This record gives sequence, structure tokens and C-alpha cells, in this order.
Amino acid sequence: MGDPPNDWLFYFRGIPFMHQIYNTESLEKLEDFEVMDDDVFITTYPKSGTTWMQVLLSLVYVEGDESRVKDINNFDRAPWLEAMMNDVLNRKRPRLISSHLPFNLQPRMLREGKGKVIHVLRNPKDTLVSFYHFHKLTKFLESPSDFQTFIEQFIDAKVFIGSWFNHVRGWYENTHPNILHVTYEDMTNDLDDVIKKVCEFLGKSLTNQQVESVKHHSSFNVMRDNPKTNHSKVEIFDFEKGTFIRKGKVGDWKDYFTVAQSERFDDVYHESMVGLDLDFIWDLP
Ligand code: A3P
Repeated sequence: MGDPPNDWLFYFRGIPFMHQIYNTESLEKLEDFEVMDDDVFITTYPKSGTTWMQVLLSLVYVEGDESRVKDINNFDRAPWLEAMMNDVLNRKRPRLISSHLPFNLQPRMLREGKGKVIHVLRNPKDTLVSFYHFHKLTKFLESPSDFQTFIEQFIDAKVFIGSWFNHVRGWYENTHPNILHVTYEDMTNDLDDVIKKVCEFLGKSLTNQQVESVKHHSSFNVMRDNPKTNHSKVEIFDFEKGTFIRKGKVGDWKDYFTVAQSERFDDVYHESMVGLDLDFIWDLP
């Protein structure tokens, strides 16, 4: 592992974290975080659709009441476990909690099956492209010199939160009935079906009209134009470099990867996913 990848990151148990936001002392405390039965965690590798799921779930909880996402920003509706512990502790139940931590760094009680988890993942090539832009946007991360360099950093786990491959493996190898896996591609292709599955998983029942409200207020354009969901007031971003809600496209990687870069990535992907007997939507012909 050696030295951290750059001055903006430090290692905690082998995973790179941003100095400006995280610290070892609070990360260590997470092991003993008390999980409640009605806690719902949204867990993701960065850039997989976290914010989208935060908004969708926030709306499902209040039967589509739009004021929830018009009046309250993402951080207050679904605070980050690893960065906002006090906010999480002060939250009224049932709590919606966000986390980028890999499975093995999650609280022990969560690992043992307490609470519910909605794990969102996305085609790693689209995740990588989105992460590349995020590195330019974020003041607390090193801006990549070029796309090729960033591909290698991503493959070598020298980015915030480390290896996409290990992150996904961790969530699938340790999966249990309290974990629902959802892909960004499923959300794009059939949001009705995702809302139905999420509602079943959480024991919620929504009318058709309420589902329409969830869909409308979590749609790309509405989220992009809503200051409480588009992160436009978040100070860690430099909006001269881009926007947080950027393109929202499945297959955006095709505009970035050369054939050689794509083949190299696919080789690493297949090697890294060996033994994980799953057909992801992006693997299908
Ligand atoms: P792109 O950069 O590819 O556009 P996260 O919230 O995990 O950081 O993920 C951010 C990604 O999700 C960005 O991807 C962002 O545009 C996309 N996104 C956010 N809200 C979305 C929505 N309602 N529909 C589709 N994509 C959305």
C-alpha cells in the first residue's frame, strides 16, 4: 500500500479518505455505531447514483410529499455516516443514512444484519467517467492530469474509497436478506419497478399518484434544477469546473474510453470479478 496516493488523501485500514472531510478517530468509532432496526442505509461506491437514491427514498418515506425535497437538502435528509456522525445521532427515527464505506468498514451491527441497506451500484466505466469529472469539481481532491492517468488511478485503487472491484465484491460476498441491491441502470430503465421493489423492501405502500410524485421529483431535470438536491450550495465544489448533477447517462463511457482503454479495463474487470457469480446488466450483450 505504501504512502497515500497524494496529499489530499490518507489511508484508513487500506482505504483512501479525504483529509478535509474525514479523520481516523471518527472512522474508528464507526465499528461500534448503534444501528436501529428501522435504520435504512444507502451504501454506494462514489458516483453510482447515491444522490438519486437519497432523493427517491426521502420521497418514498413521506408518500411523495414534495416539500421534503424542496425544503430540506440532501445532507439533512440523509446524512453521511462517516462524515456527519452527530447529525446521524440527532436524527429522528426512522433514519435514512448515507455511506460510501466498503462493507468491512461498516458498523458491526450492520454487518451482522441489523437495519436495512439499499446498495446502489453502476457500470464501473460510467462510474469512472463520473468520478473523473467529480475530481475536477471537488476542491478537496487532486484534479486528474488526464483521463488515461485517472483510469490507472481508479484501477490501482488510488482514489477516494479505493477499489470499485473490492467495494462491489464486499457488498455481494456478504449479502443477506436485509440488503437490497439496485443498479443505476435499473433506475434508468424501469424506475417504477425499482420504486416497487424499494417499497416492498421497506414495507411501504404508495398510491399511483404518490409514485408519480416520487418519479417526478427524483427525475434528472427536476433534481438538477432544485437547489436542495443539486448540491449547488455545497462549498467543497468549484462550480466553474462543472456541476454535480452532470449528465445522468447510461453508457457515457463510450464517449471517453478509447478501444484500447476499454479492452484494458475489461481485462482488469474480468480478473477482479472472478468467482462472483453474477450477471450485471452491463455484462449482458
Ligand atoms: P454523471 O456524472 O454520470 O452525470 P452520486 O450521487 O453517487 O455522486 O452519483 C452522481 C451521478 O448520478 C452523476 O452522474 C449524476 O449526474 C447522476 N444523477 C444524479 N441524479 C440523477 C437522476 N435523477 N437521474 C439520473 N442520474 C442522476
